Amino acid sequence: MALFRKRERGGEDLVGRLSHIAFIMDGNGRWAKRRGLARSAGHAAGAEACKRVIRRCRELEIHTVTVYAFSTENWSRPREEVEALMGLFDRYLDTLLADLDEYRMRFVFLGDKTPLAPALREKMERLETLSAERHTDYTLNLAINYGGRDELVHAANAAIAAGKTVLTAEDIEKHLYTAASPDPDLLVRTAGEMRLSNFLLWQASYAELWFTDRLWPDMDAADVDEAVRVYLGRTRRFGGLK
Ligand code: IPE
Ligand code: IPE
Ligand code: MG
Repeated sequence: MALFRKRERGGEDLVGRLSHIAFIMDGNGRWAKRRGLARSAGHAAGAEACKRVIRRCRELEIHTVTVYAFSTENWSRPREEVEALMGLFDRYLDTLLADLDEYRMRFVFLGDKTPLAPALREKMERLETLSAERHTDYTLNLAINYGGRDELVHAANAAIAAGKTVLTAEDIEKHLYTAASPDPDLLVRTAGEMRLSNFLLWQASYAELWFTDRLWPDMDAADVDEAVRVYLGRTRRFGGLK
């Protein structure tokens, strides 16, 4: 499968313009409902959209891509839906493992792996180890059982366990799940919702935000281009003056 064969459309002006883009992949359920399908069909279509989006980000030479796949709050969904999602992650990871050298990305999982099924966990760890050995230039962060609050508590406790009694911002940053990534430049949320839902609470402090009505399973390369264009039209001040 030639995932990253060549750039399919123009957009040269969009290449290499930002370091990190993050996505809150929302609207899978609504996408399915509109088609009279089960929510799980929406999640399956969402997984395909995820591949399209990653591919376009790779073409645009965005070195870090982060996708929010399952939050610490998503466990409160009906059991069948949680099970369907976990099964989908498991199969998705198989495709990542099979296509490791097509992606040429390092895969990093953000979140607490401990409540996940041991087989899924092992697969995640294998992917992290294998991809880190081979591909360091580009990173895909997959947030599974991720919560921004959980991450901050985890980071604070890790810093304390390392002997710190008074914490600095650096102590926290070094223990975040995203420690290896720069802060996101742009955070995109689909499906018209305008909230963070516990995503990257620390890291998104100065991220540009873009919300689109597009449902996640409908996302394609043109939507990624639009997001990057919107970003390029923004003025970032970081509290200073322009
Ligand atoms: C996003 O789609 C996927 C996950 C949160 C796992 P949703 O499942 O939240 O879709 P909607 O919001 O119900 O449409
Ligand atoms: C956020 O979407 C979590 C993920 C995309 C994984 P939700 O659909 O769970 O968020 P809320 O409940 O609408 O805030
Ligand atoms: Mg949702």
